[in-house]
Amino acid sequence: MKKRYGILAVAVILLLALWGVLYQSRKEDGKEEKKSIRIGVTLYRGDDSFINTLRGNIEEQAKEYEKETGIKVVMEIVDAKGNQNTQNSQVDRFISLGYDAICVNIVDRSVASNIIGKAMDADLPVVFFNREPVEEDMRRWEKLYYVGENAKESAVLQGNILVDAYKKDSSSLDLNGDGKVSYVLLEGENSHQDSLIRTEWSIQTLKDGGVPLEKITGGIANWDRSQASAWMEQWLLEYPDEVEVVICNNDDMALGAADALDRKGDLRPVKIVGIDGTPQGLEGLRTGRLFGTVQCDSQEYASVIFKIAAAESLGQKVQEIVKLDRDKYYECSQKALTTH
Ligand code: BGC
Repeated sequence: MKKRYGILAVAVILLLALWGVLYQSRKEDGKEEKKSIRIGVTLYRGDDSFINTLRGNIEEQAKEYEKETGIKVVMEIVDAKGNQNTQNSQVDRFISLGYDAICVNIVDRSVASNIIGKAMDADLPVVFFNREPVEEDMRRWEKLYYVGENAKESAVLQGNILVDAYKKDSSSLDLNGDGKVSYVLLEGENSHQDSLIRTEWSIQTLKDGGVPLEKITGGIANWDRSQASAWMEQWLLEYPDEVEVVICNNDDMALGAADALDRKGDLRPVKIVGIDGTPQGLEGLRTGRLFGTVQCDSQEYASVIFKIAAAESLGQKVQEIVKLDRDKYYECSQKALTTH
């Protein structure tokens, strides 16, 4: 009898131990069992065409992910309206709500350390996108990521659209046949990594491609259509019939330049090139208002931002899900589009 009790006791102990092991491993895997994730997204400006397109695509990605995985996604997207203090408070709120990951399109890329410090304290992974923090900040923690485009690549593709056109028919750019291609330049925010590099490499590519260039003038229009249009209007008055090419750091500014030409009734075939391939830019290309643009794959862009945030939210190893450079950087693919 005693022996039987002994065996029973051993069996119970073994069962309890087994249960303990199973329970523990389930707890360790616990993140996989999560049935919902919560992600906060803050945009530097919701009214920026490129960012607005990206926003729509991120929302789409979240819906698809829910369908595919059955995991519920709670995603809150807020607009910092160009104000860094507003954005800092938005991040504070995301932290206090206990979000699993955040995606930050930072207003002022030079002060990312503030948000990074708070996120590290709260153990909240951050996916920065489109506006790149300096490398020193990015290196502070392994749960910081950046998704963007290679600015040099955009610019080289943009420059080559014009080089090809010039090689095919120099008079298509040198409208007055004086042996020089006279251009104006519309630049994005001067603190944005994309503006500086795009400007430099667009011009360099034209020079390397053997296009004889003459810069008339240029201005900073902060990615904005109406600011670009105002510059162009002024230049068309100051340099009547001189502008042959308009090189723009993005599509919205390219469309602004086209608006000014239309308003002036200037019918010369001035070539305007942009970057982004936003729906508005593509429409401009279709109607011939823009000569070319460089399209980044906005679906891919959004999908990578979302995938990183979702993987971090579930405690998965991000590098096994998305191929990253230096474990934290992703560059989206781009292609040149032109009417010719
Ligand atoms: C895009 C612009 C956009 C800016 C915002 C750039 O990469 O080309 O269209 O306005 O990012 O940060």
